[in-house]
Amino acid sequence: MFRDIDRVLIDREAIAEKVRALGAEIAADIQRAIERHRDPDDAQVVLIPILTGALVFTADLIRQMPVMLSLRVVAVSSYPGKSMASKGAKIAGELPTDLRGKHVIVVDDILDTGQTLAVVKKLIQEQAPASVRICVLLRKPESARKEHVEADYVGFDIPDEFVVGYGLDYDGFYRNYPQIAVLRPMVGSAVTEAGS
Ligand code: XMP
Repeated sequence: MFRDIDRVLIDREAIAEKVRALGAEIAADIQRAIERHRDPDDAQVVLIPILTGALVFTADLIRQMPVMLSLRVVAVSSYPGKSMASKGAKIAGELPTDLRGKHVIVVDDILDTGQTLAVVKKLIQEQAPASVRICVLLRKPESARKEHVEADYVGFDIPDEFVVGYGLDYDGFYRNYPQIAVLRPMVGSAVTEAGS
């Protein structure tokens, strides 16, 4: 069915456990931030998943967060480059423009080169939100980074390998594979040019 999977890096139980812990941690931090507001009833929390990769993670994460929040999705596309190394990120569609004074949580599947989150974070910070937090399920090593971006919440640190599953794709496929996995080497090597 998922014929090019080589090995599972993170299984579904480990993901579920981590998502529960992340949800509880973020919710507790947000709750504390809300209580510090002059009028806590005025505090607003906006969670921004970056599509499409963060879709599956976000669906599970928000159900582990017992806080009042609204969801505003953002789509980011890679702009062309001869290889993955020369690609960049641009917002494909509208970023919310009413984030002033709000607590923003950006959710992405993976922090790799950092280009996606750097673009999104800058555009959010320009709007003077009350706070911006970044949550990623996966983080590749610092050596993969082209932009300096820190994630406030990280599910798993993984090696610098192309991974699929739980929302992450290869050529549009494998997003529905329920675990984080590495593709067979022949397929994996094509990724260097194909991107996701
Ligand atoms: P960066 O941090 O490089 O990440 O801007 C941008 C987006 O690239 C995708 N990405 C991956 N997708 N396996 C994937 O399926 C990977 O190993 C991988 N690394 C980066 C992902 O959508 C991320 O949001």
